[in-house]
Amino acid sequence: GFAVGSVSAHDSKITIVAHRGASGYAPENTLDAYRLAVRMRADYIEIDLQMTEDGELIAMHDGTVDRTTNGTGFVRNMTLSEIKSLDSGSWFNDKHSFYARKKYINEKVPTLREVFEAFGPSTRYLLETKSPKEYPGLEEKMWSLVQEFKLEDRIAVQSFSMESLKKIRKRSKGVPIFQLMWYKNPASISKEKLKEIGKYANGIGANFQKLDKRYVRRVKKANLLMYVYTPNFRSSMARALKWGVDGIHTDYPDILVAEQRQI
Ligand code: G3P
Ligand code: CA
Repeated sequence: GFAVGSVSAHDSKITIVAHRGASGYAPENTLDAYRLAVRMRADYIEIDLQMTEDGELIAMHDGTVDRTTNGTGFVRNMTLSEIKSLDSGSWFNDKHSFYARKKYINEKVPTLREVFEAFGPSTRYLLETKSPKEYPGLEEKMWSLVQEFKLEDRIAVQSFSMESLKKIRKRSKGVPIFQLMWYKNPASISKEKLKEIGKYANGIGANFQKLDKRYVRRVKKANLLMYVYTPNFRSSMARALKWGVDGIHTDYPDILVAEQRQI
């Protein structure tokens, strides 16, 4: 009946992560991409963190500015003011002419502080850290900014670096933590590995392409959450939903919102 149907629809609500913001529609890791994602009702905006020479946390995926700005060089060798002189939107217009917009021209790389200032508690943030070897002190800086904005309960953290995640766990027992995995071949994971991850993390984020239903079942049986990245087509989103994943990272959160309504 209707009641049963609505209960199961509610149960099947998964977490929608806007990968680098709504990065299918706007330049990744910019305020425009995050704004769109929030408007599309993503549960989390995902933010990749890098650190400048003068110790500022910025939202950027790559270690260099080459791909997503009009500049060149490593973030760690540039000051924030050097980063701020760059255009981080025009590359998107050149690459994605269908979604190109004038307002993206000369868009600025945001600091994590600016992202928190812009959205405060109106959204949730999935913060991705690098290895502590790459950026010593990044975790400490990130967490003190989270505390300054009183966003402790609006944050989740993910990383490919177990070491980095353990540093975060030391600072907070409550923050949801995701161990990222990237599989080149069809994915499998041992009971031992799942147990190890369970000691410091709440879940796993892995590349969707190499997963299957069996992997998802194993992770969930170990009482871990299973998030997948980065289904961008309805058909792949539907497949992940059928596997019973807990969350999906996508560049097109609006498509996932619509797909989820169908269930
Ligand atoms: O969403 C997971 C994903 O962020 C990890 O890969 O390269 O997009 O940061 P990447
Ligand atoms: Ca990321």
